[in-house]
Amino acid sequence: MGDLHGSSSRSAPAGVTPARWTPESWQARVAAQMIDYPDRQALDRAVTKLSALPPLVTSGEVERLTELLAQAQEGRRFLLQGGDCAETLVDCRPDKVTAQLKILLQMSLVLVHGMKKPVIRVGRFAGQYAKPRTSATETRDGQTLPSYFGDLVNGAGFDLASRTPDPDRLLAAYQHAAVTLNFIRALIDSGFADLHHPENWDLRFMEHAGLRPSLRAEYHRMTQQLAEALRFMEALGDGSVDELSRVEFFTSHEGLNLFYESAQTREVPRKSGWWNLTTHLPWIGERTRNVDGAHVEYFRGIRNPVAIKLGPDADPADVVRLINVLNPDNEPGRTVLVTRMGATKAEKALPSLLAHVADSRRRVLWVCDPMHGNTRATDGEIKTRHFDDILQELEMTIDAHTRIGTNLGGVHFELTGEDVTECVGGSGGVTEADLTSNYESLCDPRLNYQQALEMAFLLARRLAK
Ligand code: PEP
Ligand code: CO
Repeated sequence: MGDLHGSSSRSAPAGVTPARWTPESWQARVAAQMIDYPDRQALDRAVTKLSALPPLVTSGEVERLTELLAQAQEGRRFLLQGGDCAETLVDCRPDKVTAQLKILLQMSLVLVHGMKKPVIRVGRFAGQYAKPRTSATETRDGQTLPSYFGDLVNGAGFDLASRTPDPDRLLAAYQHAAVTLNFIRALIDSGFADLHHPENWDLRFMEHAGLRPSLRAEYHRMTQQLAEALRFMEALGDGSVDELSRVEFFTSHEGLNLFYESAQTREVPRKSGWWNLTTHLPWIGERTRNVDGAHVEYFRGIRNPVAIKLGPDADPADVVRLINVLNPDNEPGRTVLVTRMGATKAEKALPSLLAHVADSRRRVLWVCDPMHGNTRATDGEIKTRHFDDILQELEMTIDAHTRIGTNLGGVHFELTGEDVTECVGGSGGVTEADLTSNYESLCDPRLNYQQALEMAFLLARRLAK
């Protein structure tokens, strides 16, 4: 690590003089989940190439999202963040991308209608290619190989060639992220008018025999109201269909592979500071948020808003220290805290955390990820999550915020617009026996289209209260 000159534009917390930051200063720190590239020269070549390529997003877009997040911190907007656990290179296909945008847009309309406030849409896409793993290696039938760390790092196949970290994947992932984002931008530009008609949505879950009649009636009522509200908007005047269908989307991914993140971190003309221009909203995972670690060192130097995942063992005092390091000037819209406690732990872990951060007067946006604390394995060793656990964590989190007087400003889901069978439950009635029929995720189980839409209805109903 270099010299100890404090950076002039930032005030450090009392007693701490941060060393000089550069996009590469993280390399002197210990990195959890560090990727061990055997061919360092190939890594250098790939990083050099990646650094020279154009950015995927602009600093202006990042500033816009920061402003919106600042409004969400004040309770004036709500964040909906969602997408795959892990994107894969082979799934960079038009049908998949369209399905993802569609479900996020439909959920957002349901939430807007229920909450009567604008929703910020952020996809886990166009770069969500790196995965932290519980174990660095995996053993099958006596053979031990590196774990699969996502397509940005290595291949999922269980053989040495696939599992060896390959620096050329930094470029392949960047290219796939670019293609994905290009298609997303094109879809947004051409409008989503038809998606504003709930009569075109797939609402089969509402007709399922197992659904309680009172809930069915309520879903129908909400859908009708939503359809009427949208027709009313359309009828308001010329061009409003277009206006209405031109929606904003932002991108996010876990900033796990710091070679990728730092290669695309740059200064821009007439603005101060450094920007990670691979994505609008990078996040720090639960396993890499050590305040002295490489990831926090990297993230403290960029101007993007940064989200931090917080599990049930997060120590409230550590969290405040982390916020101070990442956002020393307490700037609005810059810090997003994503709690992912699990339905069995949320009630105990949340109140002290919420209260401690509130007492510190740090400006944060509280978001609930009800997925990552609720993963379990079936008897047949299939990773799944139960719809009811997910809903329960959301409800517990809403209650905890109400009790402490803080504001739940967003939600974070792993979901897909397709008809997969990875999570169980929901009115569509996916059971454990169904899981093998269409299980696609290489990492965590996602809500399918019906489950995600129903979750939005239940959440909107709950937050409307
Ligand atoms: C994820 O979001 O896919 C993830 C791994 O989350 P966490 O860091 O919260 O476990
Ligand atoms: Co996940």
